[in-house]
Amino acid sequence: MGGTELESIFALAGTDKGFVHHYGEIYEHLLAGFRDRPCKLLEIGVYHGASLRAWERYLSQAEIIGVDCDAACLAHRSARSEVLLGDVGDGEFLAVLAGRGPFGIVIDDGSHLPTHQQNCLTALWPAVQPGGVYVIEDLEVARTAPCGTGVSTTGWLLDRVWRESLSTGQPNDCFTVFSGNLVAMIKRAAGGETGMQVVYGTV
Ligand SMILES: C[S@@+](CC[C@H](N)C(=O)[O-])C[C@H]1O[C@@H](n2cnc3c(N)ncnc32)[C@H](O)[C@@H]1O
Repeated sequence: MGGTELESIFALAGTDKGFVHHYGEIYEHLLAGFRDRPCKLLEIGVYHGASLRAWERYLSQAEIIGVDCDAACLAHRSARSEVLLGDVGDGEFLAVLAGRGPFGIVIDDGSHLPTHQQNCLTALWPAVQPGGVYVIEDLEVARTAPCGTGVSTTGWLLDRVWRESLSTGQPNDCFTVFSGNLVAMIKRAAGGETGMQVVYGTV
């Protein structure tokens, strides 16, 4: 078992967020403000339902929505977690997902294809509430795999965050973190913050 409470919860639930990727510590840091408070979490990628079970345990009052293109994932619905079936490669489906916001937490743990990661962020970022977080896992997959524009998600994201700042006229609307574990965590400013801030580790 890992060293943090969330690492232990990940291990018990059986999600590779813990024993493969060791995301527990950084997630715990990022999600501390959501514990025991009502919020809405959307996770792309249900698979065997392990992460849904982990979020149910860690976020006691969260409304949890899992998304997957595999109908077998409907078996992982629960009293706490809804599962929506759809392909995030479909722009119309992404618009439906955005309509389910605002979200406190969005996690992209789906196909890991750069095009999907980038289109999901573009469609879902407006549905992230102030103070909310958007996470893209497993960037190592997309770091070397070019998308249609030949840009890996890591480089695209830096540019995207910068352009978001420009388009909103709020130069530091969001804070971005890239961890050594190859996960991007982007936090929307709650309001009033100034300056690009590192919320965990080093950028
Ligand atoms: C890495 S697994 C999710 C693991 C889960 N989040 C966990 O931690 O236990 C990725 C899931 O993404 C789903 N997926 C792949 N491509 C997808 C797409 N285009 N749209 C929706 N889901 C997709 C797969 O069916 C698979 O169940």
